[in-house]
Amino acid sequence: KSEQGGNAQLAPAAASAVVAAKTLTILYASQTGNAKGVASKLAASAKAAGITVVLKNTADFKAKGLKNETHLLIVASTNGEGEAPDDAIEFHEFLLGKKAPKLPELKYSVLALGDSSYEFFCQTGKDFDDRLKALGATQVAPRVDCDVDYDTDSENWISSIVDTLKDELTQTATTAPAANVGALATAGAESQYTKQNPYAAEFSLSQKITGRDSAKDVRHIEIDLGESGLTYQVGDALGVWFENDETLVTNLLSELGFSGDEKVNLKVSGEEQEFTLKNALISQLEITQTAPAFIEFWALQSKDAKLAELASDKNAAREFSGENQIIDVVKLAKADIDAQTFVDALRKITPRLYSIASAQSEVEEEVHLTVGVVNFDKNGEPRVGGASGFLANRLEEGQTVRVFVEHNDNFRLPQSDETPVIMIGPGTGVAPFRAFMQEREARDASGDNWMFFGDQTFTQDFLYQVEWQNYLKSGLLTKMDVAFSRDQAEKVYVQDRLKENASEVFAWLERGAHLYICGDANRMAKDVHNTLLEIIAEHGKLSTEQAEDYLKSLRSNKRYQKDVY
Ligand code: 2AM
Repeated sequence: KSEQGGNAQLAPAAASAVVAAKTLTILYASQTGNAKGVASKLAASAKAAGITVVLKNTADFKAKGLKNETHLLIVASTNGEGEAPDDAIEFHEFLLGKKAPKLPELKYSVLALGDSSYEFFCQTGKDFDDRLKALGATQVAPRVDCDVDYDTDSENWISSIVDTLKDELTQTATTAPAANVGALATAGAESQYTKQNPYAAEFSLSQKITGRDSAKDVRHIEIDLGESGLTYQVGDALGVWFENDETLVTNLLSELGFSGDEKVNLKVSGEEQEFTLKNALISQLEITQTAPAFIEFWALQSKDAKLAELASDKNAAREFSGENQIIDVVKLAKADIDAQTFVDALRKITPRLYSIASAQSEVEEEVHLTVGVVNFDKNGEPRVGGASGFLANRLEEGQTVRVFVEHNDNFRLPQSDETPVIMIGPGTGVAPFRAFMQEREARDASGDNWMFFGDQTFTQDFLYQVEWQNYLKSGLLTKMDVAFSRDQAEKVYVQDRLKENASEVFAWLERGAHLYICGDANRMAKDVHNTLLEIIAEHGKLSTEQAEDYLKSLRSNKRYQKDVY
């Protein structure tokens, strides 16, 4: 007699499950979409197990309603130096604040996404986990902290948590109709090309845009998305897969005493595959980045006292990781090790994300990047970044490069074309603002645009100089302030230019300007943030705390957005 659904056999069981079962709430705190993607997979998998699921961005979740929840899973990314993603700041503040309710009835678990090369690895996930526990909630499965290569760990967590909750959350072990699962899996897939299924695009142009005497090598790169159907908005990033340098691999093999023909097994998209060691090192494993975990591993294998000491000092190990590649760690001590053990200690290669420097309204099926080539010297030997070296040195025009679009809803032009924008983008941080200008020009946007650019020297490092000058001339760019740090005795940075223009910056904010920062996270973005606080405090006649609230409210209103790395 049931009227629910067309399948008479399934309907009664499904209906009773809906009445009896409790709801599983899945929240995600996502910056660039990784946590959102994992949360969607989790939701699909829970639904397939017959669980009633509500999937939400933390930004859209009424935190006060937490006390009505019985089962909660949070997938949380950590932003830069241990901050919550922009969208999740309010939820994070509420949960960690004094007004958060006691949650004795709640069962929960947290999946944390992060990058172990940062000091505050997975901090946002840890914050949520610790706080829920403190509020009296019961952890149904331990928190898992995932590193940049999160696919396997997150999949394992998903299947174990769904297994754990299945009996409790479904009265009968009904499987949801297959059609639902299918619909969920394809929802939101705008193009068939994704991180796991990238598009082989044509690498159409590579041009060095720093001068001959520059200390830096920055490339303007153009890639042709052809017939892929891939689309992007300004503010998005392009994910780029790469292969390691064969010479580096050969040197690493000889350092380890391997021929490269040894057979090793690796899991590739969930399936074991056999590779020669050499091919695995070229195409599957990270060797240009290292992490504290690898230093610890090598210390154990080599039984080297100095390395063990380095590994035991977390800060030192992290700093060392940032300045060395796998070969540099291996060179420090000899170890007798088999090929499989070695590859098991390496991370899987992950694509690099580059902020897109073009707008499709201007360049159509092309996508432009501004790539700073990572180049340094290690005891007389050159070391080059994995992806940047691939793009700059090993890829030739006309060859293909595997790419996908990574959407970033946390770095968007204002909805209204009349809204003024302030853009702060020194160095390669200039990239998304070139895209912003192309887009605003195409839209004939009337809003004011103010650009702050900085780099080492005017003659060698003024990226896209002619384009900026043309935008100024045409009037699209209202104002441009530049800071060339090494053109005079005293260092001058973008934040100094902000300070010089403090009252005007504040006036722009007061008339609704959106504020964007792109570029170096470690120093620049922090210093600029602090300068903004000073400006707001002084010109808004506010206390430091009030100035912080001012910036926070800009952030939660999406008027202060950062793309920093
Ligand atoms: P420097 O290397 O000459 O000190 C782009 O890389 C520019 O950012 C360079 O001019 C660099 O200056 C500058 N820079 C370095 N540290 C910075 C900081 N804390 N804030 C702003 N800019 C900085």
